[in-house]
Amino acid sequence: MSEFKKVVYNEKFRVLLNREQIESRIKELGREITREYEDKNPIMVGVLNGAFIFMADLIRYTELDMEIDFIKISSYGNSKKSTGKVRILKDMDAEIKGRHVLVVEDIVDTGLSIKYLMDRLGARQPASLKFVSLLFKPESVIEKVHIDHIGFEIPSSFVVGYGLDHQQILRNLPAIYVMDEQTKRKKTTYHDR
Ligand code: IMP
Repeated sequence: MSEFKKVVYNEKFRVLLNREQIESRIKELGREITREYEDKNPIMVGVLNGAFIFMADLIRYTELDMEIDFIKISSYGNSKKSTGKVRILKDMDAEIKGRHVLVVEDIVDTGLSIKYLMDRLGARQPASLKFVSLLFKPESVIEKVHIDHIGFEIPSSFVVGYGLDHQQILRNLPAIYVMDEQTKRKKTTYHDR
């Protein structure tokens, strides 16, 4: 049976955040971001792959003249054995020097990815560089970073759905689920986004 069907039919996963909770929080984030960037013509940079659904919803709840772009980086997802090595797999296209940049992340876990992006994108001299993450696991943080907008603080458990994957699947689940420990152990924890 596919992992997707296991979730749906065998209830191996527990709902952490349902669709309504996610939607209403993203509406609020959209309002905050609209206020913050009014008249600034920002670029929103989605971090692939995990942020694609969140970003798609978030931009529809903002009322801004904005551009979008994407960057793809690799990291050790939920691994406790992280080496801290992050690298760019696909760079963004836009020049950001002098521009207002808002990076859109799915989840901040150790903080290593966001620290890497702060350093790499910061070196390109944007007018401002801010971060919004749908999820944040405060108990997992290794690298203390400032996240300007956070959707939800969650416990350190591994979560899937709404863009977040396990082994590149389960992104299409409409809500956010905590993954059953036994199910997770069957798989390796290393993954690209
Ligand atoms: P960080 O560098 O440890 O903060 O990890 C950030 C990235 O790891 C996220 O953008 C995700 O791709 C992945 N990740 C961290 N925690 C989870 C999780 O619970 N589920 C799915 N992916 C995760």
